[in-house]
This record gives sequence, C-alpha cells and structure tokens, in this order.
Amino acid sequence: MRRGHTTVFTSLDLDVPQGRLVGLLGPSGSGKSTLMRVFLGLQAGVRGTVTVLGHPAGDRVLATEVAYASQQAAVYDDLTVAQNISYFSSALGVEKSRGREVLADVGLASYRRRLVGSLSGGQRNRVALAVAMLGSPRLLVLDEPTVGLDPVLRRDLWAIFRHLADRGSTVIVSSHVMDEALRCDELILLHEGQLLAQLTPGQLLESTESTDPDTAFLKVVESHGRGRDAVPDQDPTGRDNS
Ligand SMILES: Nc1ncnc2c1ncn2[C@@H]1O[C@H](COP(=O)(O)OP(=O)(O)O)[C@@H](O)[C@H]1O
Ligand SMILES: [Mg+2]
Repeated sequence: MRRGHTTVFTSLDLDVPQGRLVGLLGPSGSGKSTLMRVFLGLQAGVRGTVTVLGHPAGDRVLATEVAYASQQAAVYDDLTVAQNISYFSSALGVEKSRGREVLADVGLASYRRRLVGSLSGGQRNRVALAVAMLGSPRLLVLDEPTVGLDPVLRRDLWAIFRHLADRGSTVIVSSHVMDEALRCDELILLHEGQLLAQLTPGQLLESTESTDPDTAFLKVVESHGRGRDAVPDQDPTGRDNS
C-alpha cells in the first residue's frame, strides 16, 4: 500500500484477535499510523482484503462499532470540553450521562468548562479519547494516545485500555515507546514498513532472551535483517527510505 509516492508496506498478512489489548509498536516512520488507516478502511492503495469484525474495513455498518483517535486529536478548539462531548454524543445518539462517564474515565471531569483550545496537548488528546469511547465501540484504534503524557497519566490511560479490553472490546494502541509493550496482551512489531513479528510480550522477551522490551525489539530487528539478507527482497522499491 502506498502513501503519496512512498510504498509503506509491500505485503502484510495478520490477524488481530478480538477482545484483546493489542500494541502496535515500532519507531517513528515504521508504518503504525498507516496500518491503523488500513484497519479503518481509510488507506488508499490497499490491494487485498481487510476484514474488520466480519465486514470489509471502512464498511458503513462499522461506523458505530469502530472508533478511532488519530494523532491529531479531531476535536473542536473553540468549544469547551463538555460542548465537544455533547456535540459528538448527539452525532452518535448516545445518552448525555455517557459523556460524563467517559470524561471521568479519562480524568477530565473537572475540565468540562474549559475551552479545548486552552488545554495542553495531552489533555486535548484525552478529550479525543473520550470522544472515541463515547459509543462503546467494539474496536478502538488509538494512535499514540499516550505520547507526551506524564507517567501517572500514562498508567491511568493504560488502565482504561485494559478495562475496555477486559469488557470485550478490541483495543489497538500504537506507541513508539517500547516499554508500553509490557502492558499489552499481544504485540504487532513494525519496522520500516515491515511486520517484524506478532507475539505476546512474554514471547518477545523470551525469544530474545531479554529483560527489557527495548533490547528485545532491537534484537528482533537485527534477526529480521539477517533473515532478509539470506532471502533477498523481491521488491527493492518497497523499501521505505524516509
Ligand atoms: N501522506 C503521506 N505521504 C507520503 N508518505 C507518507 C505519508 N504519511 C506517511 N508517509 C510515510 O509512510 C511511512 C510510514 O509512516 P507512518 O505510518 O506515519 O509511520 P508511524 O505512524 O509509525 O510513524 C513513513 O516513511 C512516512 O514518511
Ligand atoms: Mg504515526
């Protein structure tokens, strides 16, 4: 699949289990956002099939089942937190009380009257996360929701993701911070538009004989590179050179 003139993934075959907290991990530029767009049916140039909850990705019936919070929080700066929530609640047809619930979940209950434009980046992202949670979707796709947040907030957000997954939602969270791998049930490791591995955090550490996920990731990259040298890439133009 391509973005502009860049081929990001040349080929990809994976299954994401339902009801799990899935980490999409890889350094900046590895293709996390692109893959998320594929799951959402937003990515152009995809050849092949992408099935989400039994439907083609991006299908209309998925509109209320799938929620997405992109890296650029899609919320209105000139409205207050409460007004944003109320606007999206009406659009989704959910009860007003649900708005209060999600705001409490993301720790913004006391910011209801603040203009979103006056919030910090992390707070703004949490408003977008609250909006994504409003409709109790079966699949949440969250692009780097914890970037730039302090450790306490990060921990709290991961607790929310865990809770959502435990209640049966599938939560796909991307991050370039490898430490977050340990909070996931399952990992999809990306590097330069390649799927390196799909495994559990335990398998990641075990297979690389590492104690920390950063080292483990580097070892996976190395061994994948060696594997590739042994079997040359069929399509050298598929390399991402950004
Ligand atoms: N709109 C675009 N046009 C062309 N190339 C893009 C575009 N968006 C992303 N890319 C390229 O696609 C690759 C993967 O990007 P992305 O999926 O955003 O990675 P990540 O989210 O892991 O940082 C990068 O090489 C990036 O430069
Ligand atoms: Mg990204």
